[in-house]
Amino acid sequence: MDVFTAISQRSSVRAYKATPVEEDKLKKILEAARLSPSASNRQEWKFIIVKDKETRKKLAKAAFGQSFIGEAPVVIVACGTESTSIMACGQLAHTVDVSIACAFMILQAYELGLGTCWIGAFSEDEAKKILNVPEHVRIVAMIPLGYPNQSPSKKSRKRLDQIVCYEKYD
Ligand SMILES: Cc1cc2nc3c(=O)[nH]c(=O)nc-3n(C[C@H](O)[C@H](O)[C@H](O)COP(=O)(O)O)c2cc1C
Repeated sequence: MDVFTAISQRSSVRAYKATPVEEDKLKKILEAARLSPSASNRQEWKFIIVKDKETRKKLAKAAFGQSFIGEAPVVIVACGTESTSIMACGQLAHTVDVSIACAFMILQAYELGLGTCWIGAFSEDEAKKILNVPEHVRIVAMIPLGYPNQSPSKKSRKRLDQIVCYEKYD
């Protein structure tokens, strides 16, 4: 599968089969995160792999009851381990770095036939308590991972001419 096929065909999965994710597939997905770029190549991140059913259920509760998170056999909790660095452009480095790694994982998962959904709606405080995440570490996203139990949803996107301009902001 080429990159554009993955980008154009992937969609968020919110229903998962209980089928476990093979270790070699999980490893490849985590390699995609490891190999992704980061500001100054700092790699200040940690990915917590949650397979325990009770913990997954607790995470679903911390995500305001999005129960499909608990149904996925794996939840990847993506953390920034150095959360104070601000890049010259004014953006927080860890948010950008961890988001890129998550995007790479999501695409790699799709190529392997696995579904994911980016989860940004969660109580960070609650999730940190569940997973013993230290105070200075930030949780950027949670990603449930598993075999889809739904058909792909249709993409709804703005047209290119609505989001692109040339030479100057327009
Ligand atoms: C930063 C971010 C946060 C998101 N948070 C959630 C979430 O908490 N729950 C959820 O079901 N989907 C969440 N999504 C998924 C989006 O709703 C989804 O990507 C968008 O509607 C486009 O659909 P698609 O992924 O199927 O192409 C999130 C996506 C992003 C990028």
